[in-house]
Amino acid sequence: MDYSVAIAHQQPFVPERMTLKLLSDPKYVALNAQTWPRYDAYQHQVKASHWRPAFHLSPVAGLLNDPNGFCYFAGEYHLFYQWFPFGIAHGMKHWAHVRSNDLVNWSAPSLAMTPDSGYDPRGVYSGAAFLHPVDNQMLLYFTGNLKYEGDKRDATQCVATLFADGKVTKNANNPLIPHVPEGLSGHVRDPKVIVVEDGYRMLLGAQTLGDKGCVLVYRSDDAFNWTLLGQLEVAFPAGQEIGGYMWECPDYFVLDGHDVLVFSPQGIEPQGARFHNQFNVVYCLGKADWNALTFRVDTVEEFDRGFDFYAPQTMENNPDGKRVLCAWAGCGDPEFPSDVEGWSNCLTFPRELYIQENQLCQRPVPAIEKLYLSSQSGCGEVKGIEVITGNIPHRYRLILTLSNLSDETLELQLLADERESLNLLLDRAKGRVTLDRSKMQHRFATAWGEQRDLDYTLGNSVQVDVLVDGSIVEIFLDGGRAAMTARVFPTGATGDIRLLGSASAQYQCATHLLKSSVNTAPISADVLSK
Ligand code: FRU
Repeated sequence: MDYSVAIAHQQPFVPERMTLKLLSDPKYVALNAQTWPRYDAYQHQVKASHWRPAFHLSPVAGLLNDPNGFCYFAGEYHLFYQWFPFGIAHGMKHWAHVRSNDLVNWSAPSLAMTPDSGYDPRGVYSGAAFLHPVDNQMLLYFTGNLKYEGDKRDATQCVATLFADGKVTKNANNPLIPHVPEGLSGHVRDPKVIVVEDGYRMLLGAQTLGDKGCVLVYRSDDAFNWTLLGQLEVAFPAGQEIGGYMWECPDYFVLDGHDVLVFSPQGIEPQGARFHNQFNVVYCLGKADWNALTFRVDTVEEFDRGFDFYAPQTMENNPDGKRVLCAWAGCGDPEFPSDVEGWSNCLTFPRELYIQENQLCQRPVPAIEKLYLSSQSGCGEVKGIEVITGNIPHRYRLILTLSNLSDETLELQLLADERESLNLLLDRAKGRVTLDRSKMQHRFATAWGEQRDLDYTLGNSVQVDVLVDGSIVEIFLDGGRAAMTARVFPTGATGDIRLLGSASAQYQCATHLLKSSVNTAPISADVLSK
């Protein structure tokens, strides 16, 4: 495709050209001094609930989606997320901001960016942090969302600076890229900036006019003035192409000698056991050429094999050099039982990434251990039904090691009581692991199925690492060779951990009860002035 007729970068941004639709739609309200009473009244209606995660970040009130601007800067971790304050709709998106010294204890949220500029009147959309190597500024790239009469869209690409005191200021020269280029739909967003040999590249999630998802690439000498290069040609192995009508939230990094491209395609079809969520996330291992604009894919796989995982991004400038990722534990349209409580969604717990045998592996960051309140361990033989831990609050980490696992099936039941359980079925003979949330009382998102299968070679010894936090369960197999994330809404506040099935095995387990560390107290009006 010829992109030579791309936009003129110096063209001034003229907000007057817009006739914005939905001007009176309550979804399109920004949080400011005038609207504060409306938000404040709303946040006081939000119900306390045993479903509220503690060490997973969730919004005090309203809807959270993508993590944004994840970085380490001036002695602290910073995490931002997409936030609609006034309800559980995908309305006007703000950037909420939380800070931490250890990735487990987070500050109360503040407001980093509101959609209050001519270039972001319908939402400050997602983007990633970038440490500018010349002056060590931490830059937060983001997309300004614009909507016009008749469902037309445009998008601007913009930047803000994160200061050492935690303040965030949108750059006076925004937008850096004032329109979507010709040849693409209005869906161009989620900037990720990287350093390459001859300067910088900005990767954007995009959609062509022919409704094809792609990664769009701009180049720059200074990370502020951008020139369009074109689409990244992602060369998949034959038969493993990833299509879709839109690709969102691209990320790129080098890990353990591999180039890694991650993106969130929309509109792809299930392939066997993979890609059964409404929207899915893909990682590619291979080789990038940022001049030729190609990515040769050697391995392509679904990132997380559970139900609720989307729009992940990795941390910029992690001091210990590890690649740490966070995702939205959700996607698209599914409604959750907690919606009636006035808050929606949470992020995954931060995961450390590494590559083993050409596979991207992921496990909870070790700082989780700081949350251990009390621990109990046990061991035994599986016969009939084995209750490993009885009546435990839904806030724990279980590390279970099975050995001498026979070929029959074995089921790990979590959140189990006489009414329900979340089941992880290990089937060594079939080489399959299945996560099943159909045996819970609160059924939801059933249109996309209630089981997720994973073709997985189970050895005769298997490790299962499980994080349970109110209404989210993250499961990691064998030190992170596979991950499965699920929102799940237990009826009671405590449950059993059980093992049952026809397989024989010995087990060893450690169950760590975890502290609560999240701040869900109402937000004060001070957030407006910070
Ligand atoms: C992904 C996404 C992004 C967009 C943001 C808006 O979930 O659709 O592409 O920037 O959410 O909230």
